[in-house]
Amino acid sequence: MAKDVHKVYVFFLIAAGLLSALVIGIHGAGYYSTPLGDRPFHPQYSLLKPTGLLGLGYGIIGSTMITVGVILYSSRKRWRVMAGVGRIKNWLEFHIFLCLLGPMLVVYHTTFKFGGLVAVSFWSMAAVVLSGVIGRYFYVQIPKGIHGNELSSEDLVIENERIGEALRKQAGLDADLLKLIDSTALPSRPVAEMGLMEVVSFFIVNDLTRRSHLKALFEKLERRGVQAQMIARIRVMASRRIMLTRRIAFLQQFKRIFHYWHVVHLPFSIVMFVILSVHVGVAIAFGYTWIF
Ligand code: HEM
Repeated sequence: MAKDVHKVYVFFLIAAGLLSALVIGIHGAGYYSTPLGDRPFHPQYSLLKPTGLLGLGYGIIGSTMITVGVILYSSRKRWRVMAGVGRIKNWLEFHIFLCLLGPMLVVYHTTFKFGGLVAVSFWSMAAVVLSGVIGRYFYVQIPKGIHGNELSSEDLVIENERIGEALRKQAGLDADLLKLIDSTALPSRPVAEMGLMEVVSFFIVNDLTRRSHLKALFEKLERRGVQAQMIARIRVMASRRIMLTRRIAFLQQFKRIFHYWHVVHLPFSIVMFVILSVHVGVAIAFGYTWIF
């Protein structure tokens, strides 16, 4: 997928997700904010209650989206026949879209009442969504090739050296300035000795403070009379270098964390699907078949 087409694709997913969640929320705001005991007397009760035409529809469409989102991504990842179909990155984005909007619809289906056995499924879903958001952060830190295969640290080192060379030769940065860039990317103690929480807090603090650290570099360049256009180019290269330096240093840690991350994301999905199946089976047995 070309870069521009990919941007439109992501924009469409975000816009569709936000718009749907917003429209449904605004439409039912009056009902959802009514105290539980008064809801049966609300004009939207028969439509929005969990077994109502829309309420049940949200549950069915939401669960279907989650199921499709998981099946499609897992198939693309594991099924040889689908190995060459599109980039895994785009499939993951679609997985995230379906598995964020789907749970949102399920929340509207519950009408914000969370109880009974199916609540276990609901909270498992919440855990999967939350762990997904965290996992996605680690996922993007592990560099991948065009087919989603993990790149080795040598590939990263080569690219990082190329950027260092460009910063030295094209942008005229001396060793001290290059050191300043690199120092913003790395922690003060050896990465191998850092525990999980230390790694996570380093990344959060580093992401939040990177801009102000680099400000010192750009001010130095301005004082040296470097043109604004060149500073803008250096800014792009320096950001890329910091990202790569960090990824090289933390690659093994991230692979380990991501490996353990599956231990949360996958089992909670299984619990969610098992209880969801019981919930759906009971609902069908009681005659709640929606429009079918
Ligand atoms: C109810 C919601 C969700 C369910 C049931 C779910 C389930 C799953 C499952 C079963 C996999 C493993 C696929 C495989 O390895 O075959 C997976 C992968 C993944 N999910 Fe989710 N997910 C949900 C929501 C999310 C969300 C909201 C995000 C991010 C915002 C997310 C991020 C990821 C990532 C990054 C992977 C990739 C793992 C890899 O390829 O190694 N998930 N998900």
